[in-house]
Order: sequence, then C-alpha cells, then structure tokens
Amino acid sequence: MNSLPVVIPKDINKYFFNRKKEISQINANLSLLDMDVANQFLITGYRGVGKTFLLKKILNDQPDKYLTAYIDLSKIYGAQKGELTEEKVIKEILDKINETINKDEKLYDNIKSHITNFINQLKLKNYDLSNIKLTHIELPEIKDNYLKLSKFTMELPQLIVDSSPDIKGFIIVIDEFQLLKSLKKPDAFFWLIRSYSQEQFNVSYIFTGSVSQTGEIINMINGQNGAFGGRMLQFNIDPFTKDQTKRYLNERLSSLKFTDGGFERFYSCTRGIPAYINSLASILPSNIECDEEIIKETLLLNVDQIVIMWLYVWGSLTSIEKEMIIFMVENEHVNWSLLARELNYSKSTITKYVDSLLNKGIIEHTFNKEYVLSDKMLKTWLEIKYENDGIYPA
Ligand SMILES: Nc1ncnc2c1ncn2[C@@H]1O[C@H](COP(=O)(O)OP(=O)(O)O)[C@@H](O)[C@H]1O
Ligand SMILES: [Mg+2]
Repeated sequence: MNSLPVVIPKDINKYFFNRKKEISQINANLSLLDMDVANQFLITGYRGVGKTFLLKKILNDQPDKYLTAYIDLSKIYGAQKGELTEEKVIKEILDKINETINKDEKLYDNIKSHITNFINQLKLKNYDLSNIKLTHIELPEIKDNYLKLSKFTMELPQLIVDSSPDIKGFIIVIDEFQLLKSLKKPDAFFWLIRSYSQEQFNVSYIFTGSVSQTGEIINMINGQNGAFGGRMLQFNIDPFTKDQTKRYLNERLSSLKFTDGGFERFYSCTRGIPAYINSLASILPSNIECDEEIIKETLLLNVDQIVIMWLYVWGSLTSIEKEMIIFMVENEHVNWSLLARELNYSKSTITKYVDSLLNKGIIEHTFNKEYVLSDKMLKTWLEIKYENDGIYPA
C-alpha cells in the first residue's frame, strides 16, 4: 500500500494501524454486556492521536448482538456557534439511537410496540408518535419537556435491548465530550447520565475527547466527587512510539526513505501523532532519502497541510481566544495573573476564555499553574505563519 489517509477513511480496515492492545482491552470490557455488566469508559488523548478512528473501528467491528451509536459533539457545537444546551445534546443522542434502529427493519418491528407503550406511559403528548418512526418525532416543546425527553432518551437503549431477544447490549460513544463543559450546568448533565446508566445493565457509554488525562473535566466526571466517582474505566491513547512509527511507515508507505537523522527529525516533528505522521509523510519526496534538511523545508513550506486539523479549530475561535494563544506563543511562564495584567480585558473575561480554551483541550495547566499550548505543532504553525506573512492567521 502506498498512501496514508489524512482524514478518517471510509475503508477503516484498509488504513487502520495497530492499536491491538487498546482494542482488546476495550472489547474485553464491552463484552461483559452479555453478562449484564455495563462498563462506562473515558478515553482521553491529544488531538490527532487517533481516538475517533479507534472508536469507529471498535464500533465497526462489534458483533450484531450489540447496537452502537456515535455522537460527535463538535458537530453540534459548531452548528450552535458554541452554545451547547442539554436539550440539543439529548436530542442528538436520540437522533443517533433512532438512526441505529431504523437501519434494521426486523429490530424495528420487534421494539415498536414497546416504544409506543413507553411513550404513552411518559405521556409525551407533545410528540406526535402516531407514526412511530422516531425520525418523525416532532420536538417543538423540548424546554417544558426536557425532563421527560431526557428520561425517554436515556431509558430508550435499555428498553431496546430488553425488547429484542437477539440484542445483548447498546454501546454509545460521545466524542469530543469535553465540550459538555460549555453547558450551563455540566455536572448536572453528568449526574443525569450517571443516574440512568447505573440502573442499566446493558448500555455502555464511551466518553472520548481531546483532553489530557488530568484535565479538570476528568475530575468533574470521574474524580472522587465527580458523577462517576472513579467507576469509569479510563484509558489514555498514546502517540505511536518511535518503533511503531517506523513499522507503520515501512508497511504503509514503503517508498518513503529516511536517513537516520531524517527519521529522528521526522519523529520529533510529529511526536508520533498519527494525524501529523500521515500528513507530513504524504508530502515528503519519495524518490530520495529524506534527511533533516528536507524534513525541515517540507514542514516550513507546507505547514498548512500538516496542521490541517487545527485550521478548522482556529477558525472557530473568538478573537480573544486567538489573542490569548498568540500571547502564549510569544511568552513563557504564562499564568492567569500575567494574562490579566498584559491583556486588556476584565478579570471575568480572562477567566471565561481561559476556561473555554482549557475545555477545548487547546491549552493545559502545568503543575505550577502556568498555561501551555497542548500541542507544540500549533505553536510551530503560528510561528511559521508569522515569519512568512508578517502577521498571524486571522
Ligand atoms: N491507528 C491509526 N492508523 C492509521 N492512521 C491513524 C490511526 N489513528 C489515527 N490515524 C490518522 O490520524 C488522523 C486523526 O485521527 P483521529 O481519530 O481523528 O484523532 P483524534 O480523534 O484523537 O483527534 C486520522 O484521520 C487518521 O488519518
Ligand atoms: Mg476525534
């Protein structure tokens, strides 16, 4: 094979590399659904490290006895211009569960009457369910009915399992879950999920997002006083090691050759993050041995292509957030007081946007309460753009 994907490809198996250990650990715990043991998962790791790809592969490979739903919060977050609400999230979960059951006529016929009964019990009057395809549910009065709607949505997956003899479990992935931190009451939302999931023996939730394993949100959801109080199984997805990177490139892009120093440079630029490995390797010349100089030049000239995953994120930031990031590129030892002193905003504004950057996994706390960019490549990109264009990207 001689190409590497720069997005998540349709043909997952053709491009997916390794992660055998993570896959078997996660699958071993998911397979307990058969025995009415529902684990909840928390999967962290840097942006671009391969969390989404891994989970898509895992969902894809589940046996038919498990139903799956995948919810990407960054999609609704983007569509809502950063205003995420509980209702929107619940509705998205419902939509995806609905997609799953509508895919399978037989399953659908099986569970139809059970769902109708449940709806009648809940007296979800505002939802016209005469034609029970859930896609036709009108959700006009979500506000008044949020409690009922969330009860309906959260109990639906277990109801589906209970009413279908062939189905043993339901696996629900919530991707970029750190964005839930922008809800008005994020803890209340985690407690809601917790309160339903603890009484459901066949529904596993997998929360995953581009956050560090010690992030504040992790504490909120799985810390001692968090909703799940440490009961969630936590996995961090690591970048590829040097050896894995070497093996991956040999196997998947054998035309690419490095000098020893060239490979070292390649690894230190990409830090083993597959998103960067794929995009940088794809544009390196394949007819010559790449040395340090070639890697450096290629990065300089094609930096936009390499940081492609950041372009979208950068475009979605407010001007204050961008200003803060640039401040962190230009200064060392940045802490809250320095930001408050040097940037011309009120203290509450500084706090609001620092929180927002932390929640998005763009910056993180160091042990001594300084802020740093989570990804050095973001810094490299901004520096190269400034050097080339004289200004930072808008
Ligand atoms: N196991 C893997 N094998 C091959 N390529 C991978 C792998 N994991 C990630 N990638 C590449 O990295 C890119 C980013 O992965 P993604 O799952 O979107 O990262 P994350 O969700 O952690 O931000 C993918 O589009 C894919 O090209
Ligand atoms: Mg992802």
